[in-house]
Amino acid sequence: MNNDIERVLYSEEELSNRMDQMAQEITANYEDKKPLVVPVMTGAMMFSSEMLKRMNFLLNVDIVKASSYVGSKSTGEVKLVQDVRSDVKGRHVIFMEDIIDTGHTLKYLKELFEKRGAASVKICAMLDKPDTRQVDLQGDYVGFSAPDEFLVGYGLDYDGFYRNLPYIGVLKKSVYEK
Ligand code: IMP
Ligand code: MG
Repeated sequence: MNNDIERVLYSEEELSNRMDQMAQEITANYEDKKPLVVPVMTGAMMFSSEMLKRMNFLLNVDIVKASSYVGSKSTGEVKLVQDVRSDVKGRHVIFMEDIIDTGHTLKYLKELFEKRGAASVKICAMLDKPDTRQVDLQGDYVGFSAPDEFLVGYGLDYDGFYRNLPYIGVLKKSVYEK
């Protein structure tokens, strides 16, 4: 698995330090709001569990599963594969996402939850690829901005693999250009 990685972009330690800072910021803003934290599965599982451990106040967690990717290209069409079970009305929602790329997924989710009457909807993303954005959408809490390359690890996958890498790396082109 590690041999398929061209180079490490963010080490486990860099990610951990950045998550400490982000969690501090979120804590300052949400401590008294009992927010509904919504990890976007499956990519956000590692990032969100690490973030949640750093958020020591009352909150709820409920997941959605969205999919817009087939292989290494975004299709632009978002599918909500699994919805939350919580009532969103009046809640302060924080989506947790692995990476914002074209922006289609989070724009769709944000608008959907606003329509459902959320008190506020914010986005916390581990990575942001600003160069590949196709819609008007910004993350509110962003770990790092990333180059336009195909990344894996820390939840990010290629065809379902590499999610379990404890760092974020650039996948060798030879792996997916076959
Ligand atoms: P968006 O709708 O284009 O913003 O897509 C967001 C989703 O695309 C993320 O949740 C990831 O699952 C996936 N994605 C975007 N860039 C990458 C990447 O470099 N590696 C793996 N998955 C990615
Ligand atoms: Mg994803």
